[in-house]
Amino acid sequence: MSHGNSSWMERSNKVFISTYSRFPAVLVKGEGCVLEDADGRKYLDFLAGIAVCSLGHCHPEVTRAICAQAAKLVHVSNLFHTQPQTELAELLVSHSFADRVFFGNSGAEANEAAIKLARKYSGAGRFEIISLAGSFHGRTLATVAATGQPKFHQGFEPLPSGFLHAEFGDIAALEKLISPNTCAILCEPLQGESGVRPLEREYLAKIRQLCDDKGLLLIFDEVQTGIGRTGTLFAYEQLGVVPDILTSAKALANGLPIGAMLTSDTIGSYFTVGSHASTFGGNPVAAAAAVATVKIILAEGFLAEVCAKGEYLAGKLAGLAAKYPTLATGQRGLGLLQGLVLTEAGIEQGPAIVQKLFERGVLINFAGNAVLRFIPPLVVSRDEIDLLIKELDKVFAEFI
Ligand SMILES: Cc1ncc(COP(=O)(O)O)c(C=O)c1O
Repeated sequence: MSHGNSSWMERSNKVFISTYSRFPAVLVKGEGCVLEDADGRKYLDFLAGIAVCSLGHCHPEVTRAICAQAAKLVHVSNLFHTQPQTELAELLVSHSFADRVFFGNSGAEANEAAIKLARKYSGAGRFEIISLAGSFHGRTLATVAATGQPKFHQGFEPLPSGFLHAEFGDIAALEKLISPNTCAILCEPLQGESGVRPLEREYLAKIRQLCDDKGLLLIFDEVQTGIGRTGTLFAYEQLGVVPDILTSAKALANGLPIGAMLTSDTIGSYFTVGSHASTFGGNPVAAAAAVATVKIILAEGFLAEVCAKGEYLAGKLAGLAAKYPTLATGQRGLGLLQGLVLTEAGIEQGPAIVQKLFERGVLINFAGNAVLRFIPPLVVSRDEIDLLIKELDKVFAEFI
């Protein structure tokens, strides 16, 4: 019996509900920015498990932390205190605006917690949350409702009520949606899934002002932008706006499932015993992995390198756009969350470009039906960036 890609894919195709369109590869191991499939083929990874494995695959210090914790204590529930969870919460509050943390297991769960807390804090019938068109906040019913993309709503109605969506970038449209029922504005500082769309600093400042003027909470969904991805621990640090609640997940434990909601003492105090809970949230093994991950990301020089490599990648992508104007109009993004914006002709070829790169051993994806997205491990080297650009150049040459 064969143990290669095709036999495993045949088996999985028989047993899974078909919610995913997957690359035709069964990945079996990874190190740094390189993955290997069951046929022994190697891939240069510019996806990092969708902005998750920021320290690269199987980072030795994270692996050590996971193994040490797994040998000591795996799970006890939140009926008890555990050391890794407390250490992680301390790390997060000492490096952010927040005083308090709640742990879940994913980005959607962190956002659910934020939505519930915003409603609890606001009280008195103020339950509406305004998010932005194009946003992505998760796949649970409330976070689907908060997501500003109708394609994620279809077939799941009626969705939980109280979620409104404002046109992206239009502060007047946002203001118009505010009513006496509004409790919060929820946004990503840079929209990842809908095509690497940064929110202008001025626009974010106006959103903050609007929240202050109307007594609304500002929730930043930093599930994708957080934990060093944009060159600071959280993106808000470089955007001149501080949220009231922030959600984090994805890269927090470099691949183990964990989500976090961060907030102030005052707002956090509106959750009391029994208000919210999670059996696994902040599980000791995931928390130990997260402590190791965050410590490395905060170590001297790490984030400065992310900024420098982000600029390097952005420059190379801009160069490619200039070389292939019929396929790409330019680059956009922050840090190592970068997108190459495609022309209409380029968009038509987007999936085929991704497929061709895959065949050449490079992993990227097509986001928001608009851009090629590059979210490598933050430890990516300049040589690896050069290799990506060389391969993209060859593939683009085939498409013009
Ligand atoms: C901004 C944002 N929020 C929330 C989520 C949902 O996270 P999860 O898939 O961990 O539930 C994602 C996932 O892509 C995301 O990018």
